Amino acid sequence: MKKLLITGGAGFIGSNFVRHVVQKSPDYQVTVLDKLTYAGNLTNLDGVLDGARVRFVQGDICDPAIVDPLVREHDAVVNFAAETHVDRSLLNPGAFVQTDVFGTYVLLEACRRAGGTRMVQVSTDEVYGDVPPGTQSLETDRLNPRSPYSASKGGGDLQCLGFFHTYQVPVSITRAANTVGPFQYPEKLVPLMSTNAILGLPLPVYGDGQQVRDWLHASDHCAAIDLVLHRGTPGEVYNVGVGYERPNVEVVELILTELGAPRSLIRHVADRQGHDRRYSLDCQKVRALGWSPTYTFERCIRETARWYAEHRPWWEAIRARVDFQSYYRQNYEHRLQPAAPPA
Ligand code: NAD
Ligand code: TYD
Repeated sequence: MKKLLITGGAGFIGSNFVRHVVQKSPDYQVTVLDKLTYAGNLTNLDGVLDGARVRFVQGDICDPAIVDPLVREHDAVVNFAAETHVDRSLLNPGAFVQTDVFGTYVLLEACRRAGGTRMVQVSTDEVYGDVPPGTQSLETDRLNPRSPYSASKGGGDLQCLGFFHTYQVPVSITRAANTVGPFQYPEKLVPLMSTNAILGLPLPVYGDGQQVRDWLHASDHCAAIDLVLHRGTPGEVYNVGVGYERPNVEVVELILTELGAPRSLIRHVADRQGHDRRYSLDCQKVRALGWSPTYTFERCIRETARWYAEHRPWWEAIRARVDFQSYYRQNYEHRLQPAAPPA
């Protein structure tokens, strides 16, 4: 396999994956197809986008006129393109259905028409919904999404399985845990809290902050996707997680420690609607393929927080944009307002 189409490759994990491929597989050629939504950023590909080994096409995965010829020119597709933020999905669910369900269908249809192009669909542990303490999600568990984001990702996964069983499109699915690392748009927990802490702004922790997530480094996530691409079985789903289950407040406190910022910046604010308490994955299947994580929990969070401290121009440019500021106001202004004094 020599020619990869990486959709959503200008986003967080996609751009890390492009770097991973460039370093690991010098004989590969990569095309990044990305719409450059608010989350897409060509500077994420600085130093790798050379127009020859790695080239860029701006376009929408929902548009068959762009997708079909590109898929025909490539040996495999790895789909990172998606609307990805739960809080935004509460404000504008339609965009999620469009890209995460319909866009996935357009890619699958192109793979089918091209004669059965290999595809990996990058999905999330959130499709399993809230997981009770003491249990873990298996790949065969029923999907139980509880937000417009996870429902849309679940819809994309089901399209993949439908195209595999009906048309034998050789697609595999990865479902990974919360991922952190360089180039994550500063709306998700770790980059938002890191950049707020650096700016001395309040850190808005939803509810009691005892919600549990598993924390995976982008480089470990990319290694798992690469493995599934080359050694995964078509039609199969692979969970990708580490087992570092930590309550959100513990993650936030570790960020504050790493950045030398005071604990007094933490604010417990109004909870997210429909907030899942816990995700937890059984990952024996991807481990059996040969994957194992290289990051400890502490290193994963600390190194990421440090990356934000050392790359201020990258995120300051994003935070200065009107679209970031209007989203921030919409999601946080009411939450961070001081409570009215008793009448
Ligand atoms: P991101 O939001 O940083 O990047 C998404 C990219 O997709 C952006 O570059 C954006 O411009 C592009 N895009 C969006 N809509 C598009 C469209 N219609 N056509 C073409 N490009 C489009 O996302 P991320 O965090 O890098 O996530 C990548 C994938 O990994 C997603 O599918 C997500 O569901 C999945 N995932 C993310 C995490 C996580 O913690 N971030 C965990 C598990 C799985
Ligand atoms: P997030 O990074 O948005 O990922 P996801 O919701 O996809 O897991 O959020 C991670 C956790 O952090 C989640 O439980 C919600 C919580 N959170 C906050 O408490 N405050 C915030 O400002 C954000 C963005 C997230």
